[in-house]
Order: sequence, then structure tokens, then C-alpha cells
Amino acid sequence: MPQNNTFKAGILGTGSFLPENKLTNKDLERMVDTSDEWIVSRTGIKERRIAPPSMTTSYMATEAAKKAIEDAKITAEDIDLIIVATVVPDMNFPSTACLVQANIGAINAAAFDIEVGCSGFIYGLSIAKQFIENGTYKYVLVIAADILSKITNWEDRNTCVLFGDGAGAAVVGQVENGYGILDNFIGADGKGGMHLYMPAGGSRMPACEESVKNKLHTIHMNGQEVFKFAVNVMNTATIEVLNRCGLKPEDVDIFIPHQANIRIIDAAMKKLKLSKEKVFINLDKYGNMSAASVAVALDEALKAGKIKNGDIILMVAFGAGLTWGSTVIKWLE
Ligand code: ACO
Repeated sequence: MPQNNTFKAGILGTGSFLPENKLTNKDLERMVDTSDEWIVSRTGIKERRIAPPSMTTSYMATEAAKKAIEDAKITAEDIDLIIVATVVPDMNFPSTACLVQANIGAINAAAFDIEVGCSGFIYGLSIAKQFIENGTYKYVLVIAADILSKITNWEDRNTCVLFGDGAGAAVVGQVENGYGILDNFIGADGKGGMHLYMPAGGSRMPACEESVKNKLHTIHMNGQEVFKFAVNVMNTATIEVLNRCGLKPEDVDIFIPHQANIRIIDAAMKKLKLSKEKVFINLDKYGNMSAASVAVALDEALKAGKIKNGDIILMVAFGAGLTWGSTVIKWLE
């Protein structure tokens, strides 16, 4: 189908959902050999939200989606496609997107999941942009939802202090030309896949007594390698997407980075010479919520009135895969 030049893909509404239960650094001090001082100084995280045992990814995704649909002033029946980015689906199949489709009654929507770790929301937006701008679909619902607490080894201090649960959603549709998602840059480096992975539960090592005993259904991470990758890719993915848009770091009004570690964000800001006032941070309250981090941060920034008409929003994420994604949006109120 020919590219339509009369409109662009943009975000029409956002929503998010966070479980109520807070797990503080003090709580973690009672669970593993760690301290509030270590966690804050090494990561910037003070507390995170943890879903109750009965809560599922599809539940959180559904709650975030309902708010985004309301915000976009459309109905669930208007939606043509649902994309859910998650690494903790309710089940291997059916997809979490199909479960959400049933929950919200989006009877006209196709639905699928994508699995790109913390880069999921930006991958989702870039897929949605294609469907909107080639005229195939009018409304695409992009949801990023993860319950990492369910795949965390709560005896491993290297990982259990980092993560939290949450979901964010955006309705993508047509906006006036010159606004919306100006461009994206998504990429992957599969050679680094084993730096951040869950060993068991797939075809490589199906669930068995041994895999459960050895906690192989939990996150395994080489923190230092992921850290080095993240600092580098936050910089390169930002420069690349800004170049594609003909923009410079100083043109950015608000920078919404993946909320993994304040030291990674600080290093990126320094390299890019971005001022602190332009950066949106909520990792102190929520930790790293995987794909949901950027989506929730965007929703919070909007609801807090930090984004106004015509602002240039830059979002950058990195995650399991290894993957990365960056996007630039010119906001249309
Ligand atoms: N409390 C106290 N000490 C700890 C803790 C803890 N929670 N965790 C590790 N340590 C110890 C280590 O055992 C080590 O001790 P040693 O020197 O006696 O061996 C020491 O602290 C230093 O460990 P490092 O790993 O060097 O600490 P570092 O400064 O690198 O910080 C961290 C670790 C926070 C994990 C960092 O490497 C990081 O943020 N990496 C990136 C992780 C990330 O972003 N992951 C998410 C990717 S996105 C996704 O898809 C989910």
C-alpha cells in the first residue's frame, strides 16, 4: 500500500497500571544481604511495586489499556490491532494480547505479543507506526506489561533489588502531518543474549524437577556486561534516531529513558550533554519494570503536565535480546 503523506502515526491516549503493594529497600534488607545505601547509590531505586500472587500480566495490561482507550476517546471496538510487549506472558500460549482482546471486548482487533525485553514499548510503537502510516489500520493499541517479580530469584541480591511490576499502554492512530512519531530506531545484538536470560521453560530446557530446584525459571544476568552495553547503546541509539529526524540533542524537550539504573541514565545524559531538567525519572519509585518502564514514564509525564503541544519527546530503551529502541515524537495535544 502506498505511504500516506496526509497524516502521521501519533499517540492519541495513554494509560498505566501499578500494583499497590510497595517493596522498599528496607524490606529487601530483611530478605537478602543488601542495604538501602547500596541499592540507592548503585541504582537509584528506593522502592518498587510487587503484584500479589493472583495477579497476571494480562490483568495489568487490561487495566492500563482501558485507561489508554478512555484517554484516546475511542471504544475497544474501534481498535484494529493489539500488541503486547512482555517477557512474562500469562502462558506461553495463547498470547497475552489475545487475553487482553477478550477482556476489553476489542472484537475487531488482531492481536499478538512481542518479546524484546525492556525495548518492547518502543518496538511496539514502531510496528504500530507502519500499520497506521500505510493505511492498513486506524487504531493500534500498544501495551507494555511485565511482572518480573514472578521470574525473580528472591535469594539473588544481584537481581532481586532491581525489578518491579507494572503496565503502560498507548493508543496509536492518525495525527496531523509534522507531528506524531517522527522516526524510530530499533536494533538487536543476539550475540549478547546470554547476558540477560531465563534458562528454562522453553524448548531448550523444558520445565522439570531439576530446572525448578536450580531456579532456572528466573532471571539470570551478567550485570556488568548489561551495564556496559546499556551506557553505549543509550548514546548510539539516541544519536541515530535524532539524526534520522534531522534533530540535535539540544532540540529535545523531554527525555524518557528506560528506568533501569540512575547511573546508566546519568552516563547517557553526560555523553549527550542533556540537562537534568529535561530527563524524566521514576525509577526511584518503581525500579526497572522491563518493557513497562518507558510506557509508564510517558503516561506519568503526560498526566503531570510535563509535556506540552509541539514538544519533542525522546524515548530510549535497551533490554534482553540484547535489544534497543529509540523514538522521537513531536507531541500534538
Ligand atoms: N547489595 C549489596 N551488594 C551487592 C548487591 C546488593 N543488592 N548486588 C551485588 N552486590 C555486590 C556484588 O556481590 C559485588 O561484591 P564483591 O565485590 O564482593 O564481588 C559488589 O556488590 C559489586 O558488584 P557489581 O556487579 O560490580 O556492582 P555494579 O556496580 O556493577 O552494580 C548492577 C550492579 C546494579 C546490577 C549494575 O551492574 C547494573 O545496573 N547493570 C545493568 C542491569 C540492568 O540494567 N538490567 C536490566 C536490563 S533490562 C531488561 O531487559 C530487564
